[in-house]
Amino acid sequence: MGSVAYNLLLCLACFLIVTPYVEARFVVEMNSLSVTSPEDLKGTYTSAIGNFGVPDYGGTLAGTVAYSKDNSAACSEFGSTDKFKSKLGGLPTIVVVDRGDCYFALKVWNAQKAGAAAVLVADDRDEPLITMDSPTEDTAAADYLENITIPSALIEKSLGDKLKTTVGDGKVVSLKLDWRESVPHPDERVEYEFWTNSNDECGPKCQAQIEFVKSFKGAAQILEKGGYTLFTPHYITWYCPEAFITSRQCKSQCINQGRYCAPDPEQDFDQGYDGKDVVLENLREICVHKVANETLARPWLWWDYVTDFQIRCPMSAKKYNQECAEEVISSLGLDAKKIRECMGDSETDSENKILKGEQEAQIGQGSRGDVTMLPTLIVNNVQYRGKLDRGAVLKAICSGFEEKTEPPVCLSPEMETNECLTNNGGCWEDVKANITACKDTFRGRVCECPLVNGVQFQGDGYTSCEANGQGRCKIHNGGCWQETKDSKTFSACSDSKATGCECPAGFKGDGVSKCEDIDECQSKTACQCSECNCKNTWGSYDCECSGDLLYIRENDVCISKKGGTARVGWVVSMIVLLGIALVAAGGYLVYKYRLRSYMDSEIRAIMAQYMPLDSQNEVHHHLNEET
Ligand SMILES: *[C@@H]1O[C@H](CO)[C@@H](O)[C@H](O)[C@H]1NC(C)=O
Ligand SMILES: *[C@@H]1O[C@H](CO)[C@@H](O)[C@H](O)[C@H]1NC(C)=O
Ligand SMILES: *[C@@H]1O[C@H](CO)[C@@H](O)[C@H](O)[C@H]1NC(C)=O
Repeated sequence: MGSVAYNLLLCLACFLIVTPYVEARFVVEMNSLSVTSPEDLKGTYTSAIGNFGVPDYGGTLAGTVAYSKDNSAACSEFGSTDKFKSKLGGLPTIVVVDRGDCYFALKVWNAQKAGAAAVLVADDRDEPLITMDSPTEDTAAADYLENITIPSALIEKSLGDKLKTTVGDGKVVSLKLDWRESVPHPDERVEYEFWTNSNDECGPKCQAQIEFVKSFKGAAQILEKGGYTLFTPHYITWYCPEAFITSRQCKSQCINQGRYCAPDPEQDFDQGYDGKDVVLENLREICVHKVANETLARPWLWWDYVTDFQIRCPMSAKKYNQECAEEVISSLGLDAKKIRECMGDSETDSENKILKGEQEAQIGQGSRGDVTMLPTLIVNNVQYRGKLDRGAVLKAICSGFEEKTEPPVCLSPEMETNECLTNNGGCWEDVKANITACKDTFRGRVCECPLVNGVQFQGDGYTSCEANGQGRCKIHNGGCWQETKDSKTFSACSDSKATGCECPAGFKGDGVSKCEDIDECQSKTACQCSECNCKNTWGSYDCECSGDLLYIRENDVCISKKGGTARVGWVVSMIVLLGIALVAAGGYLVYKYRLRSYMDSEIRAIMAQYMPLDSQNEVHHHLNEET
């Protein structure tokens, strides 16, 4: 059930072989839990992330607490698929269940089926928190384990008791689970390790590792090629105690005279493959990674090798051997001889540098505990908890980048949290224009004014965003008023102004929600002469003059169509005509004078070339002036 049980199982299988250190230091990975109401429970508590399901690395989950008295341990089904479903617009339900009577994972599975968004298992004794592991022996559990998609955590008995009583009293308890600090995120590169095993016949756990490597390979290679991550594969080995080195068991399970051992795949010490075959293949896989990096600078070939080896050289086909391995190695363009050199001699009575390094790396350092479970994933020196699933692991790795340095693969649609789907994530939006400031990322949503068709919106992203600059009127008319009537359109947006809205001429209003037609006739702003007959139109006005008169819109006057009666018009025309005549005459005189003086100087210049003149200086003066 717990990790301890699994370690015990491993050690029974490896027969009298113990880990090279006396006391294992197992670090329980935590996420933060804060109660936001009621007042008397408010505070931050710790909880230990379960080693199955999908912890929301880099994110948070807010919800209300539920506790079912009739099925308090959640060992049987709740019978309804929507018992814990959140009501429309309500917060998700976080279900508290009691520890005991069945597997942790089964409790979580039952609660998930009833609609829970997360499960808190309340410890039944006062003790330091442990990591809830997945059942390893039970093949029936393997079925539902894969399907657990919600996060779970173990909480202390004291907190569990308080939550249960408060909910029992009919009060609403709100709390928030927070995984944002579960993985350190100090810089723009993530270091991660995968502790695994080349054994492909150990049941569901081995199957899960194989499936994970296959599904994660693509993402891992993109991250590594882009320099975003530094990945190292690791393998656990044990050593045989002095007194047993010559025993049959140690001889079949170990290499280098009992120094590096692995459990027998069939646990029979007789048939099929022995533990030492597994140790050798593990060593080969480490060397593939090392040689691929050193000779080709392509360490990510490890992912190709491991998947190809599993497909082409399985134990079941009796191909789990050096010959088959080297075919795979050659097909990847790697030098099999270099790999053999890297592996060294497995028969000698001395240390193997690489495997010794692996045993040392197994011991926890700094914030990291010892590696005692297989498989184990370590991200930025913290052990990953949760199921080995492509999306879940990618999320954990992505949460290890310093904010804003995440590679594109972390910002892809499949990593989105879909928080924008409810209530637009609390961000600004323009429903009519279908423009929103809400952006889903794996870290949760952010409210950022968008860039639409090349136009940057500016504002706080929560309450306001406004289109700015050129082209802004093309996007939902810059958020300004616009109306069309009788195929005439007026708009309060103008590209010549960088921001804001202003009603066009003939209208008044705020320019955003409303611009009203100005009644020019009523407001006496035009068409007010005695002969004028005013008629308002939308956005303008019509003006007609009585009798034979013609309306001149620019001057807002009525004039006669034939000259004479309306003096104003006649005077204006005469003045204009006179002006034109004067300008034309003046222009002609100037032109004549210029032409003449130009010809004068030309002639004099030509003549100067043939006969020296007294007044040379004068000529030059003229020429300079003309050029
Ligand atoms: C788990 O999910 C798979 C695929 O959706 C489904 O076929 C299978 O029946 C599920 N297992 C259980 C135990 O519900
Ligand atoms: C590959 O080798 C270089 C030095 O040659 C080293 O700095 C780097 O850490 C290695 N990469 C991996 C993934 O081990
Ligand atoms: C709004 O825009 C999104 C993408 O930008 C699109 O998927 C959706 O269909 C649009 N909705 C409407 C009502 O136009």
